[in-house]
Amino acid sequence: MMFSNEFSLFFALVASIISWIQPVHGQTISGIVTSSDQSQLLEAITDAPSFASGSGSADIAIDETTVYQQMVGFGGSMTDSAALAMNNLKNADPAAYNKLLKDSFTTEGAALNYLRVPIGASDFSSSSYSLDDISGDTSFTSFNISSAPAYLFSTLADIYAVNPNVKIHILPWSPPAWMKDGNTMNGGSLKSDMVSSYPTYLLKAVQGFKAKNLPIAAVSIQNEPQNSNPTYPSCTIDASTQATLAKSLRSLLNSNSLTDIKIIGYEHNWDDTSSYTIPMVDDAPNAFEGVAFHCYGGQVSETAAFSAQFPNIPMYQTECAGTTGSDWWTDVQWYVNNLWSANNTATGMMWIFASADNGKSPYPGSNSCGDGCRGMSTVTTSTVTFNQEYYSMAHFARAFTSDDGSTLGKRIQASVSDSTFNVVAYATGDKYSLVVLNSGGSSQKSISFQGKQATFTFPTGLTTLSWTGSNTSTKRMIKKRRIGA
Ligand SMILES: *[C@@H]1O[C@H](CO)[C@@H](O)[C@H](O)[C@H]1NC(C)=O
Ligand SMILES: *[C@@H]1O[C@H](CO)[C@@H](O)[C@H](O)[C@H]1NC(C)=O
Ligand SMILES: *[C@@H]1O[C@H](CO)[C@@H](O)[C@H](O)[C@H]1NC(C)=O
Repeated sequence: MMFSNEFSLFFALVASIISWIQPVHGQTISGIVTSSDQSQLLEAITDAPSFASGSGSADIAIDETTVYQQMVGFGGSMTDSAALAMNNLKNADPAAYNKLLKDSFTTEGAALNYLRVPIGASDFSSSSYSLDDISGDTSFTSFNISSAPAYLFSTLADIYAVNPNVKIHILPWSPPAWMKDGNTMNGGSLKSDMVSSYPTYLLKAVQGFKAKNLPIAAVSIQNEPQNSNPTYPSCTIDASTQATLAKSLRSLLNSNSLTDIKIIGYEHNWDDTSSYTIPMVDDAPNAFEGVAFHCYGGQVSETAAFSAQFPNIPMYQTECAGTTGSDWWTDVQWYVNNLWSANNTATGMMWIFASADNGKSPYPGSNSCGDGCRGMSTVTTSTVTFNQEYYSMAHFARAFTSDDGSTLGKRIQASVSDSTFNVVAYATGDKYSLVVLNSGGSSQKSISFQGKQATFTFPTGLTTLSWTGSNTSTKRMIKKRRIGA
């Protein structure tokens, strides 16, 4: 026993020294493929190429010296309905439930690690409730985190147990009804005399989720602050009020030793980037550590105006919903081109994480999700089906997550000349990855990295290739220091 331990330790040491000395030459690439015809779904490639010396310009060029955004995570929203579907499976078939968790949240599966969770009811809850429904309780002495269903907390705890690196981002679909002008969770807006007390409700929500031993990373002020819909929980809050609420919440979080909790602003469509997010962050530049976008209006290119003005404030894509019945491969291409590859995005998220059915809103009287908002997975008590949202995300999340799940990478420069291709590359410690969307026919391409080249025939579909390398910029710096010393 002793002997074999020492022996393997010795080889691990030798292997790591060799990989440090020889960053690229002869490196083997591993990869996964999802083909457009779905005959391969996250299947390991068998014809793995490797980098060798090459000359001339390659079809796909990776430049790891141009470094872009730090990734924060991919995932979806754990609504009450999603947690209920998962909890029903847990009760009916614990082994299938555990497989669903592993396939979703570990690096052998989709490597998802970011969940958005409503504070109180959303349109995917079965009834209207907030975490303090006692009218006039502006000090929130009756705040009760357990007003949310027990299965929401148990499902989140089960996910945290399989992925200790998961992060949870909480946000309300509406303030408590009694804080609003129409005295209902369904539509309306926050009363102006409640602006000073409302941040305390959000602080209590952060503290409440933390008291359930859940890894809370971020809080948003309001889901879709420009949407007032009388059929489900929603609320309008203008940009200047959101800035005021965020400044006050920031100081409450700080004075309660919650400096690590990020406040993420906006949470609405691309089309009002200039009219809402820019003035909002201008009003409270130190309160927001990110702004979140949904895909339901405008074009992703409109967010470039935000990044140009606030290059140090990360952009989160937090919501988009697939429509029940839509085409699988058309959807995969759209998600990759508009969401997962978006230039500055730190997160990639869909709406419902899991749905037991066609994704119709379970909220009584709700008109949201007319034709059904497909879950990333369809989870009944007897079957689990992963949908196009899951597969397309997995190709990216696996690319920017270290194999042990503990580290997330940064996007680095990658380019391709063929317009039927879209390529995105990441560096995660010594792991380098390239995600390739091929929307044309099967095509052989050369790939260049640190002066070496590899060749691979990309099928129509999504391919993720990964290999071990090292940051040459860092090594050059070390050498310079040694020479100077
Ligand atoms: C909080 O709500 C839960 C669920 O409704 C209930 O069981 C519990 O008694 C409540 N706690 C308090 C302090 O009211
Ligand atoms: C990313 O930026 C490039 C160069 O400005 C632009 O051509 C491309 O459309 C952008 N893509 C997305 C998804 O924002
Ligand atoms: C590589 O190292 C340089 C110098 O330390 C640093 O600026 C750069 O961000 C690193 N690259 C990545 C992908 O982390």
